[in-house]
Amino acid sequence: MKLTIIGTGYVGLTTGACFAEVGHEVTCVDNNPEKIAMLLKGEIPIFEPGLAELVTKNVAAGRLKFSTSTAEGVESGEVIFIAVPTPPMPDGSVDLSFIEKVAREVAESVQPGQGFKVVVDKSTVPVKTGQKVAETIKRYGPEGVEFGVASNPEFLREGCAIDDLLNPDRIVFGTHDERTADVMRRVYSPFNAPVLATDVESAELIKHAANSFLALKISYINSVARICEKSGADIEMVAEGIGMDERIGRSFLNAGLGYGGSCFPKDIKAFISISESLGYPFELLKQVEEINDSQLDHFLAKIRESLWVFREKKIALWGLAFKQNTDDVRESVAIKLAQKILSEGASISAWDPEAVGTAKKFGNLEGDITYAEDQYSCLDGAEALVIATEWPQFGNADLAEIKKRMRNPIIFDGRNLFDPATVAQQGIEYHSIGRLPVT
Ligand code: UDX
Repeated sequence: MKLTIIGTGYVGLTTGACFAEVGHEVTCVDNNPEKIAMLLKGEIPIFEPGLAELVTKNVAAGRLKFSTSTAEGVESGEVIFIAVPTPPMPDGSVDLSFIEKVAREVAESVQPGQGFKVVVDKSTVPVKTGQKVAETIKRYGPEGVEFGVASNPEFLREGCAIDDLLNPDRIVFGTHDERTADVMRRVYSPFNAPVLATDVESAELIKHAANSFLALKISYINSVARICEKSGADIEMVAEGIGMDERIGRSFLNAGLGYGGSCFPKDIKAFISISESLGYPFELLKQVEEINDSQLDHFLAKIRESLWVFREKKIALWGLAFKQNTDDVRESVAIKLAQKILSEGASISAWDPEAVGTAKKFGNLEGDITYAEDQYSCLDGAEALVIATEWPQFGNADLAEIKKRMRNPIIFDGRNLFDPATVAQQGIEYHSIGRLPVT
């Protein structure tokens, strides 16, 4: 099928590449000419494992094209996906101006003779946005245009987006008519995954409800971790024990510094705001957010309790990305942690396998911070090691080498990457989340 994706950000580009990979003819449109020029040269503006190879392969096969022209994309595409940003407003509600602009542009480009078009919202949007998109296309489009509107949320995780897109748990799309639903079924026919076809509003709501539930699991386990710290229980064992219940499941029960990233913080805020505007204040989600926000201060208090003061101390920081396998530092708890440590007068030597560049560019890290050449030299002379991101190479690190390099062998592990007993054997002081410290 001929598909067009408007917006070549994270979601648009990965989705476009994966649609091409399964055999569709895809045009990715973006109004940023520099980005399109980069892509035409084969350069990928974001870090995502496997994406560069997929783009190169599908461009070479003639299934993936890039353009700055919405009109061109609308003309060629039977299905037009909107994948533009939906950033948060200062009050937590969602700024839908990019969606509205694309809907208008689609309406102004589409011609009656071009056949039935399906306009699909891929961006994460508040429930009822599909209705507004349909109204906008009707209002600004020419008479006689035949179109359907669908909502088709994505559930991809940064760092494993390609696999999430090619082998999804489920495909959800919502439409209000069978003709549009048939088109969506054809789009997804090459994928081997269960399909849930709903109405537009339910599909829109599924995305916010799913992300909020995952965030709720994280805040839940972080609260249980607090009780573990007070009672002497071990959060890793508790998570294992409750996760063995199939109804609960072990995933997203990793206690730590809380969730960050470009999705969860924004989506939880948005869902709170949407619920409020619909007349149901979602108090549970407000708690989820509060617990998440307090996790960082709780961790800082632990560090302060052991180090006493930060001023003039040299801290090694492992991790800047908001999670493993990404260079993304948006809403990264690691960055927030670094900002606080620096503001209290300590110096930081930081290391991250992928996110040093993005941290320098977007991290707003002011103060005495240097970026190490590698994971171990980062530790030289440090008075404490703080682990803020769950990269596997941190958990697999050589503890003897860590001890040798540091001035004081103390680890504050915000992601529970080590077994406390093993660290203790090395004579390293160890503080983690939801487990008693080893001193
Ligand atoms: C998330 C959703 O998983 C995905 O389905 C949706 O489409 C976009 O938002 P992503 O933002 O890539 O994906 O990150 P995810 O892997 O979900 O992690 C989010 C945050 O939660 C990270 O900061 C991570 O460190 C944290 N986390 C995750 C925990 O603290 N504990 C866990 O058990 C799991």
